[in-house]
Amino acid sequence: MTILNETAIRLPEVELNIYKPENPVEVPVVKSEIATDAASPNFVRHIEFDVSGTDLENKVLPGQALGVIADGKDEKGRPHKVRLYSICSPTGGEDGKGKIYATIVKRVIDEHWETQKLFTGVCSNFLCDRLKGDKIRMTGPSGKRFLLPENAEDYNFVLMATGTGISPFRGMVIDLMRNSALASNGNEVFLVFGCPYRTDLLYKSLFDEYDAERKQFHYLKAISREDPRPDGTKPYVQYTLIDQKELLLPVLQRENTLIYICGLKGMETGIFKILARMGLYEYMRVDDELRDLNPLDWTRDQLKTIKPGERAFLEVY
Ligand code: A2P
Repeated sequence: MTILNETAIRLPEVELNIYKPENPVEVPVVKSEIATDAASPNFVRHIEFDVSGTDLENKVLPGQALGVIADGKDEKGRPHKVRLYSICSPTGGEDGKGKIYATIVKRVIDEHWETQKLFTGVCSNFLCDRLKGDKIRMTGPSGKRFLLPENAEDYNFVLMATGTGISPFRGMVIDLMRNSALASNGNEVFLVFGCPYRTDLLYKSLFDEYDAERKQFHYLKAISREDPRPDGTKPYVQYTLIDQKELLLPVLQRENTLIYICGLKGMETGIFKILARMGLYEYMRVDDELRDLNPLDWTRDQLKTIKPGERAFLEVY
C-alpha cells in the first residue's frame, strides 16, 4: 500500500474555455440512446457528439464539462444561456482518439408549484430532442479540480453519485480500470450510486461487468424507492457508508484514499455528516467549534459551512 502525503495530489494541467459563449463551436450529434431500462419513468439519454476538426479534439478529461447553448430565445427574446454537461467519456473519448465525447442528460419535466402548468427544462429537452446529424453549439471545456490525479494508480477511490451525477464516474472508472498499475499497487475503486428505481441504474452493465471481473472494483447500489433500510429510511448514498461499513471503513481510513462526490446539490452535507460520525474528519474542513459538537447535533446551517478537504472532490448542481 502506498502512503502519500496530502500535498502529493497531482492533478493534470488542462486547457479551459477553448470555446467561449461568444464563439461556440458547432458539432454534430452522432448517437443518442436511452440510458435507462425501458420501464423507467424517467427520460435519460446517453448522447455522443463528434468534435473532430475542432480545438476540442483530445482536450476533454473525465470530470470536465462542456457547455451547450440551446437554439432559440428565452421568453424575453434573449439567447439561451450556456448549460454545463459533465462528460461521461474516458480520456481519449468514446473512440480513443479524442474525437467523440459523450454526456448523459435527463429531461427536466416538472409542474409549477403555483400555476400547475407543465415546466420543461430548456437545454435538457433541447439536447434529448436532437437526432443523429443535428448540430449543437458547444463551449468549454470547464473544470480543473474534479479530475483524477496524474498518478491515479497510487490512490484508492470512493466515488459517490446520484442520478446523472454518474456521468464523470463512467469515464473515470474506465480510466481507472485501464490503469493496470492501480490493481498491482493493491489499490481499489468503490462506486456508490444512488437512484430512485432499479430501472435507473445508469451504465449498469458496464459497472456490473467490472464488479464481476476486477477484484479492485466494487459497485454498490443505493436504490432509494425500492430497498428501504431496516428502520424504514431511504437508502441514500451516504447511508451506504454505514450500511457497508465493514467494506468501506478500512478503505476510508487509508491515507491514500480520495473521495469524489457528484450529483444533487445537498447530497454532500449528508455525506460529510456521516463521515464525521465515523470519525473521518480528514475529508473535510470543519470549524473548531463544530468539531466540539456531536455531528448528530449539527444544524443545517452549520452543515453548509463544511468544505471538502484536500482528499475530497465535489461537483454538485
Ligand atoms: P429520492 O428521489 O427517492 O428521494 P435522480 O436524479 O435520478 O432522481 O436520482 C437522485 C437520487 O438521489 C434519488 O435516489 C434520490 O432519492 C436521491 N436523493 C435525494 N435527495 C438526496 C440527498 N439529500 N442525499 C442523497 N441522495 C438523495
